[in-house]
Amino acid sequence: MGVEIREMVLADYEAVVALWRSTPGVDIRPVTDSQDGIERLLARNPGLSVVAFDDGNLAGCALASHDGRRGFLQHVVVAPALRGQGLARAMIDRCLEGLREHQLGWVHLDVVVDNEAGMAFWQKAGWQPVDTLTRLSRAL
Ligand SMILES: CC(C)(COP(=O)(O)OP(=O)(O)OC[C@H]1O[C@@H](n2cnc3c(N)ncnc32)[C@H](O)[C@@H]1OP(=O)(O)O)[C@@H](O)C(=O)NCCC(=O)NCCS
Repeated sequence: MGVEIREMVLADYEAVVALWRSTPGVDIRPVTDSQDGIERLLARNPGLSVVAFDDGNLAGCALASHDGRRGFLQHVVVAPALRGQGLARAMIDRCLEGLREHQLGWVHLDVVVDNEAGMAFWQKAGWQPVDTLTRLSRAL
């Protein structure tokens, strides 16, 4: 595959957010997905998030982070023209490799409830819904 996967840096932000905006199923958050929010995420989690470039064009991205106990994957997206070539799997493998260095028990991710294709993708890759927990949240 001629696609390069590398660490995401803040200079990638504009291209990355454009890919998110063009992708149904990606829930873009005003604070945490702003440029400042992504700058904080990258600073707190050096080297964990990745981007993929194909001939200078953004082909995909995956945000990875941890809180010292659990790892998180967010906004795993591959550009439509490059899907089905193993790119998401390669980006996720790279993220998991980075997270494994931090002695975390589990990695979590959220899937928007009506994103059936996204859910099928994760379950095919061995990720399972947690049926013993219900996620509770409130705004800060
Ligand atoms: C989901 C997504 C990231 C997959 O990217 P991709 O690069 O096409 O995935 P890969 O080529 O790495 O596929 C890896 C495996 O998953 C399978 N797969 C890919 N998409 C799938 C889907 N929608 N349903 C079931 N299996 C899927 C592939 O067949 C492949 O299987 P294999 O291991 O037997 O070869 C991409 O379709 C996308 O960006 N979707 C929109 C955003 C999204 O929904 N992201 C996830 C939500 S949290």
